[in-house]
Amino acid sequence: MSAARALAAAPPPVVEGEFPFTQSDFSRIAALLYEQAGITLSDSKSTLVYSRLAKRVRTLGLPSFAAYCDLVSQPEEADERGRMLNALTTNLTRFYREPHHFDHLREQVLEPIAAKVRAGGRLRIWSAGCSSGQEPYSIALTILSVIPEAAELDVKVLATDIDSNMIAQGQAGLYSDELVEPIPAALRTRWLERDPGDRTRWRMSAAARTLVAFKELNLMKPWPIKGRFQAIFCRNVVIYFDEPTQEKIWSRFQPLLEADGRLYIGHSERLSGAGAEYVSDGLTTYRPAVQRIAS
Ligand SMILES: C[S@@+](CC[C@H](N)C(=O)[O-])C[C@H]1O[C@@H](n2cnc3c(N)ncnc32)[C@H](O)[C@@H]1O
Repeated sequence: MSAARALAAAPPPVVEGEFPFTQSDFSRIAALLYEQAGITLSDSKSTLVYSRLAKRVRTLGLPSFAAYCDLVSQPEEADERGRMLNALTTNLTRFYREPHHFDHLREQVLEPIAAKVRAGGRLRIWSAGCSSGQEPYSIALTILSVIPEAAELDVKVLATDIDSNMIAQGQAGLYSDELVEPIPAALRTRWLERDPGDRTRWRMSAAARTLVAFKELNLMKPWPIKGRFQAIFCRNVVIYFDEPTQEKIWSRFQPLLEADGRLYIGHSERLSGAGAEYVSDGLTTYRPAVQRIAS
């Protein structure tokens, strides 16, 4: 085939750029993302996919997105699939996002249980889809505001995310002036310190870091979790999933909650089909309707 005919026969690019990127490439990436992470991508996201993955195509020295799709589809390329997932997840977050949830946590969960925890009782909270750590640290700071000695007690915040870069950032616990702004001033003064290595940044105190355990975890896979939680935060995560996947996640959380445990979800999220398993306990806040046995 002549070069001119080959060009005429080539499928049109879905995004014009340095590397050929066709509708078929986009569909292959979208299918892989759905299969691996449950995340759905509408066709309107093709420019975003191009801009987030072009760097990988360039770094790997590949000629096109088709070649990149071939590569990430190979079973032995789990590391590159991980890099692709990291690049395609949306990690937007901030400290004390939807602050009413932290007021609710303090008043309805932590204050009533504080005496029991001080006497040796267990307190577990899960931030599922924790991004770069602002959500689990907001939970930790709320705990410390009620129980300042929490780091020496049986208290843990489990912070999980599919994105290994986010887990590393959370573990580092370093944030700019701008990022720490939403933290109430009294808590910032007490539980954050200037990073000795770079005084323009803040570091979460040892107590806050001791409370939070960061782990990579894909919500689509089995959850190696023992014991129940007094609260699960899963906010602004399932909005990227389709409805059956969302319902499955809500149903899997339910038996992991204590009878008076709470599920906090994002402001634009709904329990829909799983609604019967929970009762409302405030704005986008739920408790289990009946206790089920965790499997
Ligand atoms: C928009 S952030 C929300 C962060 C935080 N929960 C908040 O509300 O500020 C969504 C997070 O969910 C994570 N995520 C997406 N799909 C996931 C999956 N299948 N398993 C675990 N985490 C996932 C992303 O990596 C991202 O960090």
